[in-house]
Amino acid sequence: MTRHLLDVTDLTTDELRLVLQLAQRTDLPPVLAGKGVALIFEKPSNRTRHSMEMAVVRLGGHPVYTRGEEVGFDDRESVEDITRVMGGYHDVLGVRTLAHSIAVRMTMVSAVPVVNLLSERAHPLQAIADVLTMQQVHGTLDGRTIAFVGDYNNVSRSLAEACVMLGAQISLGCPVGYHATDEELQRLNLLGSGAAIQAHAAAEAVAGAIAVHTDSWTSMGQEAERGARAKAFERFTITEQVMAAAEPGAGFYHCLPASRGVEVTAEVIDGPQSHVFAQAHNRLHAACGALAFLMGVC
Ligand code: CP
Ligand code: NVA
Repeated sequence: MTRHLLDVTDLTTDELRLVLQLAQRTDLPPVLAGKGVALIFEKPSNRTRHSMEMAVVRLGGHPVYTRGEEVGFDDRESVEDITRVMGGYHDVLGVRTLAHSIAVRMTMVSAVPVVNLLSERAHPLQAIADVLTMQQVHGTLDGRTIAFVGDYNNVSRSLAEACVMLGAQISLGCPVGYHATDEELQRLNLLGSGAAIQAHAAAEAVAGAIAVHTDSWTSMGQEAERGARAKAFERFTITEQVMAAAEPGAGFYHCLPASRGVEVTAEVIDGPQSHVFAQAHNRLHAACGALAFLMGVC
């Protein structure tokens, strides 16, 4: 059966641990030698594009970056026709879609793995890099508290899934209207030995946390909502005062791109507690681990 990676939960906990181990190996075999990987982007990207392209190169393969309008999902051709055609050229199809449903439709007909490079619902490669970075900085995540303050959407959902699967408590601090529903918290709490809790204030959410994460308040495609979001999130900026409410020495994490003075102050993101560039660089290792796993390395 062809495996796909649209959500972190497409992996079992043991498989997530394997991907994290593979991500740290320096001796991965060239499993993509002579093979292509399509990377289709309907939205802009720096980290995801470059880390995936270089991960494919490291594994011996050839990445083909393609802008969404070049293939034209359901415009120039159907999603299904594009997927079937590309699967004849490539051994993995990576896609950053405007709609998660497109990635799901691709998995329905694809004979090769489909990897989600960020949808409005999930960002699994980011979450793998996030937990990898936290393990390197803080050691095991089992039993530790990790906070996410901001919008409950793609990045935070995938991070929450990975944390609960690895035995951590994810503490969400989200404004009302941009929060995880009770049903979503229940779903998260069933994913593993960790737990998911939620507060509606930043300092409350970070209490006891060894790591504090945030993300843009306005995601790609939501630009028209920027004003309303700025108002809704105005008490959710990660400041030095918020960091002081977390565990002493807590790390600060951000998937990037960041807006200094909006979701995080410059003092925090550019300060000694910040690990954002290690986190960004771990996107390469996370991509290597995920691709190696999908190609059958164990
Ligand atoms: N964090 C992340 O996915 O960044 P890009 O949008 O630049 O790929
Ligand atoms: N939530 C952000 C993440 C960017 C990497 C977005 O979707 O734009």
